Amino acid sequence: MRKKIAAANWKMNLSWKEGKELISQLIELSPTIPTAHQVIIAVPFPYLELAAQLVAAQPGYFISAQNCYHKAAGAYTGEVAASMLASVGIKYCIVGHSERREYQQETPEQLAAKLQLCFTHAITPIFCCGEPLSVREGGNPSEYVRSQLVDSLSCLASEQIAQLIIAYEPIWAIGTGKTASPEQAQEMHLAIRNYLTESYGSAIAQGIPILYGGSVKGSNATAIFANPDIDGGLVGGASLNAVEFATIIGALPQ
Ligand code: 13P
Repeated sequence: MRKKIAAANWKMNLSWKEGKELISQLIELSPTIPTAHQVIIAVPFPYLELAAQLVAAQPGYFISAQNCYHKAAGAYTGEVAASMLASVGIKYCIVGHSERREYQQETPEQLAAKLQLCFTHAITPIFCCGEPLSVREGGNPSEYVRSQLVDSLSCLASEQIAQLIIAYEPIWAIGTGKTASPEQAQEMHLAIRNYLTESYGSAIAQGIPILYGGSVKGSNATAIFANPDIDGGLVGGASLNAVEFATIIGALPQ
């Protein structure tokens, strides 16, 4: 059975003092995570080790990076390599978030290189995909997302694909308060899973958690997570509030 996951993406928010309080409150509100569930918190680089220490004694809690660089090492001032994340014990990394694709012009080739580097260093990538509003309104969203998967995943071996977490985050739903309806989300998740089945077989496709992201809140999480191909959420804004995020954790199906 694939894991159900509540993942927080703090993005570029919170001082460490605020972040530390948030994690402590979260642990108080959700002290016991069932073994079928995972809580993953993606924090800014400077907080990674400190955050990892805070959750070290909490089964089911994990810390993730929000990005890594697409080169292994070298003269790339200001960048952080997957090997560096691994060297401080980090086991998860978001790859290909739409904000990075847009603001840092990350290309599918760079994302493919990041995925390879994550796997080289035993880091589970949380690979993001999702269509912009123009495609949702006038195009073919599942075709668009399928090409995002083809473009960045094709270079991976099946054993690597089997280790992935995928997050479907429609860009028009991110930070807008506009959520995909549970039906729209399920339809896209099923399209993603169908692609994985065609390309890698049913056993691998059935094992890959596919998270939904885009204005997930305590009040809509249960309806979204109730769908058969939605295995939890990748949560931005609502993850900055302990009560909201604890409600989202509590909404993961048993
Ligand atoms: P919001 O939950 O703020 O819409 O952000 C979603 C997201 O981008 C998570 O990675």
